[in-house]
Amino acid sequence: MSGNANIDFYESNPEFVRTWSDARLTISSGWWRGVADGDLDRAQEQKLDLVADLADFKPGDRVLDIGCGYGGLLAFAADERRVGHALGVTSSFAQAGHIKSMGNPAVDVRDVDFWDLPASLGGFDSVVAVQSLENILGGAPAGVGSGLPAMREVLGRVHGWTVPGGRFAAEVCVAGPRETREVREQFETEVLRNSRPGTMPHLGDLLNAGAGLWEPVSVATQHEDFLRTLDATGSLLADHEELARGLGGDALYLATCETVRGTAAALRGGIMRVAWISWRRVD
Ligand SMILES: C[S@@+](CC[C@H](N)C(=O)[O-])C[C@H]1O[C@@H](n2cnc3c(N)ncnc32)[C@H](O)[C@@H]1O
Repeated sequence: MSGNANIDFYESNPEFVRTWSDARLTISSGWWRGVADGDLDRAQEQKLDLVADLADFKPGDRVLDIGCGYGGLLAFAADERRVGHALGVTSSFAQAGHIKSMGNPAVDVRDVDFWDLPASLGGFDSVVAVQSLENILGGAPAGVGSGLPAMREVLGRVHGWTVPGGRFAAEVCVAGPRETREVREQFETEVLRNSRPGTMPHLGDLLNAGAGLWEPVSVATQHEDFLRTLDATGSLLADHEELARGLGGDALYLATCETVRGTAAALRGGIMRVAWISWRRVD
């Protein structure tokens, strides 16, 4: 978020997020096929359905959502897909608190950094990561390194937490066709970091990093859906400016507007794309 060290976007209070998001407080791309412009709730609900399909959620499953935000996918998995247990992980006190306040008996949350999760965390039928791998890779500990080694380590850990035949679905902001090192570094520093480090992997690197661990079942990239989401978000921010400034403060409001504008510019300029990936575990 503009590199402003005083703002941690992920600690935004839920009431502030509600002024510019869908009802489930999603902070990632919607899926707009067949949805009217501006109907953000429908587009986000349809995206949750897509992710649930990509991860092959089945009734009774144990599922793990890495970087679960305010828990929309966890509630959707429990209520709509009837999974038996949905565990969310987020390194945000505000998000974890909001999820606990939902009181959903099939949903649990841990406020912990991905890199501190134990190897003993196991037995998941499916794992999902929706626009969180960027921060997780950007914040990899020094011993893990960056780039391909960090991707391999993430995919290896997720492999270890799943059962044989398990699935992993991710929505990831990846480098676009017009990305260059300079514009990418500028974008990562000025827009992506949300006050935490962030990086956009190359799609090919991410897929290669999973060799022998994860077999890609489907891969698709898009920018129109995320652009329409950001357009809807920008309109809500403008319409609810006074309320949003009151709930989040001026600095957070302005930083959120700047992130929406900067991310939309990266999508329009071909610097960024959003990938939806579905993997099956190699056993
Ligand atoms: C862009 S938000 C997406 C949230 C949610 N998946 C959604 O679609 O609304 C990124 C999420 O990743 C989480 N996150 C970022 N880095 C993390 C880390 N190192 N460990 C755990 N969670 C992390 C943030 O707290 C936040 O919940």
